[in-house]
Amino acid sequence: MEKTMEKIVNLCKNRGFVYPGSEIYNGFANTWDFGPVGIELKNNIKRTWWKRFVQESPNSYGIDAAILMNPKVWEASGHVQGFSDPKMDCKSCKQRFRADNLVEEHSKGAVSAEGMTNEQLEAYINEHKVKCPHCGNFNWSSIRQFKLMFETSRGTIEGEKDTVYLRPETAQGEYVNFLNVQRTTRAKLPFAIAQIGKAFRNEVTPGNFLFRTVEFEQMEYQTFCKDETSLQTYETIKQRALQFVEDVGLKAENLRFHDHEKLAFYAKAACDIQYKFPIGWEELNGIHHRSTWDLSRHQEFSGKPMQYLDPVTNEKFIPTIVEYSIGADRLTLAILCEAYDEETLEGGDTRIVMHFLPAVAPYKVAILPLQKNLSEKAKEVYSMLSKYFMCDYDESGSIGKRYRREDEIGTPFCVTIDFDTLNDNTVTIRERDSMKQIRLSISELINYISKQIEF
Ligand code: GAP
Repeated sequence: MEKTMEKIVNLCKNRGFVYPGSEIYNGFANTWDFGPVGIELKNNIKRTWWKRFVQESPNSYGIDAAILMNPKVWEASGHVQGFSDPKMDCKSCKQRFRADNLVEEHSKGAVSAEGMTNEQLEAYINEHKVKCPHCGNFNWSSIRQFKLMFETSRGTIEGEKDTVYLRPETAQGEYVNFLNVQRTTRAKLPFAIAQIGKAFRNEVTPGNFLFRTVEFEQMEYQTFCKDETSLQTYETIKQRALQFVEDVGLKAENLRFHDHEKLAFYAKAACDIQYKFPIGWEELNGIHHRSTWDLSRHQEFSGKPMQYLDPVTNEKFIPTIVEYSIGADRLTLAILCEAYDEETLEGGDTRIVMHFLPAVAPYKVAILPLQKNLSEKAKEVYSMLSKYFMCDYDESGSIGKRYRREDEIGTPFCVTIDFDTLNDNTVTIRERDSMKQIRLSISELINYISKQIEF
């Protein structure tokens, strides 16, 4: 079975996972709307991440910072001056490309553009006569830096508008609140601040469905520690990040670490975890040693001390940060890709099935009356189970067709109500992957399902 992005996009559109943004206006490039099934999947993924990194992590605290921040934050972080990509326009077909991508794609990955200057990128493109991937011509503009931050303005009086930015990462919300969290929780180093929220980037080359969009959610976990222990923290976070993505259902053989070749001057280490998407190995998340850079810059630009007072030694110092950042939408895409399967069944029938880990599956259980005249009993069961789990209810079409529909949205359990249910209060429960069926009494259902969907 060939797993293509096209098949996954089609299933997503047709089964209510993800729709193109503003579709009735012919869409709005690289924006996507999560539908009724997709939002359950994404929320469950975010929940499992929060459970792992906040609820079950000692000394880890969640926040939800404002998207619009004082513009000085973005000066301190370096985004105003430096957050841009090298872009080139094809003068023949007017398409826009990232020069670093042109080099890497032309060399089929043999040349890494990481750390190349614009002059080096241009020299490679001219020397190798790299053609436009869209129209095939060699007719490039020179490289210009393309600003990735979305700007908007604030102010009520005409002419008195100030430029503000839609945050391009959630991290700065954690950094500027470092002392607030430390003071109010009385946390001691090492401790972590976590956040899930929207980020916005005016990407030069968005695309590949949810992989690179202009609006996306990040899940970020910043550990504040002493510099002496920071590399050990970095190694621990790397392993925890890998363990998490394996635990939410990505196969180990489709995951690998990729160390950054060129580090920021202040960093001691940085790597990505890559996932084998249908488009190839690509970044899933990043783990970055950021030293004291961010807090020092905020101290400098805000004029407020960002130091930690060690209660044992009475020493004051700026902690080192180890950052772990993963896109919620990108992880949702990876989980969709991993789960997708086409199976040939006994008798030659085929089915598409999404093998989601039950903990992240959109619906945990579907309630299916065998015939319409059993719907009263089925609705009773629905009303009981929906207090505990997201449930689907379906009474239209043959039972076989209804099973197929649930397989396509990855529902791990189907509960069938039949005529015996009316006499003995038992139901058939069918498991999605094995398709095995067992008989259970209605009173056992909540316990049975709860056990299977634990994370
Ligand atoms: N604060 C660190 C930071 O933002 P990043 O490597 O630029 O680091 C972290 O982004 C993660 O956010 C990426 O690994 C990816 O999962 C996700 N991400 C970044 N840009 C994205 C985009 N345009 N669309 C979807 N996800 C994106």
